Amino acid sequence: MNRYKIEGGYELFGKIRVHGSKNAALPILAATIVNGGKSIIHNCPDLSDVSSSLEILKFLGCKVQRDGSDIFVDSSCLYERDIPPSAMCQTRGSTIFAGALLARCKRAFIAGSGGCCIGLRPIDLHLKAFREMGIDVSCTEMGVLCRGAQSADAEIVLSFPSVGATENIMLAASSYSGLTVIHGAAKEPEIQNLADYLRCIGVSIIGDGTEKIEITGTSHPCDAEIDIIPDRIVAATYACAVACSGGRVEVCRIAPSLLSPYLDALSSMGMSVDVAKDSFVVCKNHRCRSLPLVSTAPYPGFPTDCQPLIAAPLTTASGVSLVEERVFENRFGHCHRLAAMGADIDISGSTAVIKGVERLCGATVDACDLRCGAALTAAALGAEGFTYLAGACYIERGYENLFSDFTHLGAKIERIE
Ligand code: UD1
Repeated sequence: MNRYKIEGGYELFGKIRVHGSKNAALPILAATIVNGGKSIIHNCPDLSDVSSSLEILKFLGCKVQRDGSDIFVDSSCLYERDIPPSAMCQTRGSTIFAGALLARCKRAFIAGSGGCCIGLRPIDLHLKAFREMGIDVSCTEMGVLCRGAQSADAEIVLSFPSVGATENIMLAASSYSGLTVIHGAAKEPEIQNLADYLRCIGVSIIGDGTEKIEITGTSHPCDAEIDIIPDRIVAATYACAVACSGGRVEVCRIAPSLLSPYLDALSSMGMSVDVAKDSFVVCKNHRCRSLPLVSTAPYPGFPTDCQPLIAAPLTTASGVSLVEERVFENRFGHCHRLAAMGADIDISGSTAVIKGVERLCGATVDACDLRCGAALTAAALGAEGFTYLAGACYIERGYENLFSDFTHLGAKIERIE
């Protein structure tokens, strides 16, 4: 198992470019089966989660080719076969294949889905929506079988703006030539990227980025070409590392407005944050202040994926901070690991109470999920001494080269077996 040895205490300096978004790439890769033709996807990140989706596409019979950050998918030949549970379990993105398969084959079998262990991650909202679209959904011990095509216009009200459910509905509706309306839709930028792809293949989508999305599908989809948007959580991770270790880093190829809540929080902690149109500079040269309360919320609120990334620098800020998790019910695994590094954190229900200490100390810790791993890496960069970090496979799900990126900025990180 890969482990990393991180020597803390070196400030980060330099410039770094953000790669494409995992959470935008996964639904778009699934969507490539809808058109039965050719898709070119630019700026697709090279991540294990993306590789898992490409394997599913190949298993389904698609021709897939990668050339650098460009992916070519030809889905003209598609086998009507169920994705095996072993492939489904590799990534949360596999659930999104259900909507795309329904649009193309009128059948999808969901035999479990992967993703990080940050909560129960049910799919009841997806299934309720499919039923409201006229799709037959039957649950068995083996999994969930969805059959049939959307047969009538549908108005779906989501009780929570689930990102995955919004994407699955958009995909399932993309081959139905009537109207599907989603009320209470997720507004994340990744939803808009998927909408842009679907528009390329001829689907009419109005309102993506708002809570009401109207979809009119097409029975004659065409070839498509799309750019994956930059990854706002990766951009936040670089800023987090500077907040933990000190220094000055310019983060390029990202619209700072996509991560305003995170950058605003760092500003409130006393960091200098200068934003431009497609980049920002973060600088830390003195100890940060605590924050009275950070609460996660669906976009445009403070992203749950950034919750570990704000908890890490708050462990050494002066004063007491409260961090409330309102999206996932089990997302404090990083707090226990930060405590092993000397952080003073109490979890009370959905809130972490963080009392800032002067300094964290290196320890042996394991990443329990993707963003936990990123937060521990950032914390280790600012800690005294050596941290031995296991569970790097989680980090590889969402970051192309996190460790070499930090090394490039001046960190001392070594890979050990
Ligand atoms: C996506 C992102 C993930 C991010 C999350 C919230 C991908 C691949 N992953 O995950 O990085 O942290 O959005 O921004 O894009 N829920 C239900 N029933 C459902 C669906 C969701 O109760 O049918 C609950 C979940 O348990 C969770 C909350 O809704 O508590 C948010 O989930 P959702 O927005 O669906 O997240 P994902 O799409 O899984």
